[in-house]
Amino acid sequence: MSTPTLLTLRVRALTWEAEGILGIELVPLQPNTLLPDFEAGAHIDLHLPDGLVRSYSLLNAPGERQRWCIAVNRDAASRGGSRWIHEQLRCGQTLTVGAPRNHFPLNEAAPLSVFIAGGIGITPILGMIRRLEALGQPWRLHYACRDRAHAAYVAELQALSEAAQAAGRDGTLDLHFDAERGRVLDLPGLVAALPPASHLYACGPKGLLAAYEAATAAWPREQVHLEYFAAQEAAATEGGYQVELQRSARSLQVRPGETLLDRLLAEGVDVLYSCREGVCGTCEVRVLEGEPDHRDLVLGAAERAANTRMMVCCSGARSARLVLDL
Ligand code: FES
Repeated sequence: MSTPTLLTLRVRALTWEAEGILGIELVPLQPNTLLPDFEAGAHIDLHLPDGLVRSYSLLNAPGERQRWCIAVNRDAASRGGSRWIHEQLRCGQTLTVGAPRNHFPLNEAAPLSVFIAGGIGITPILGMIRRLEALGQPWRLHYACRDRAHAAYVAELQALSEAAQAAGRDGTLDLHFDAERGRVLDLPGLVAALPPASHLYACGPKGLLAAYEAATAAWPREQVHLEYFAAQEAAATEGGYQVELQRSARSLQVRPGETLLDRLLAEGVDVLYSCREGVCGTCEVRVLEGEPDHRDLVLGAAERAANTRMMVCCSGARSARLVLDL
């Protein structure tokens, strides 16, 4: 496993961006220090008290090296991460933060980039639109929220849209409030009207992403991009396979009813994890031998087929034995 670099950053600002959405600006401890560069669509891991690690998309403009900006939605079903951030985090505190990683890359050369954001799913997309504006590339955004009170970053998006249109480019902002329109976003109609070379991106709740996947089923896979915030498939808990940890020269047996991550943690193996749902990529481990049973939403079809990496929080084994780089 490649261990991401950990940084200690200071919370410079907390802002109430919309109902239940807290914006966080993180800066280096020392003035005039630059942060690692990041790509549009990337996320960082926050290491919170009690060993919690949570991933959040960077929403500021790629190229900004003096700060990282994220936003945290207060999740009613929070297992502690977003609740702690909303209730305990204060300006001036320091946080341990992992270096940016990107499972949701932007095709910067697309003739048109079309974004579909639901609620807090606007965060990676805001960074992507900022990047396209810096490049002078056209985009359209359909941003669905239940009502105006829950829509974050609307003023920034309007300014980006006005800048694009002033430059004679497509930069269409379609704000869709379910409560006002009395219906959800018409994804099949929207997708059917797009130029065929468009690249499409979606981020948001499961229902929106399921509708997006259905509406884009006939599109070339390389033009359809999405990022899940929650798992789609159940984790592999069938067990009954052997795992060899090559670097530590250990062997262990995963039992029925537990995940590979459960077994690794029970055996005291030092492995990073965050979402435990196969969506963040924190628990990625290199596979040296054997065939994983991939259940995550991080790896694409080709990456799954290569069987060289796996997410140990949710994926299991199709072969009787796996050899991991641990
Ligand atoms: S912990 Fe998030 S993908 Fe495994």
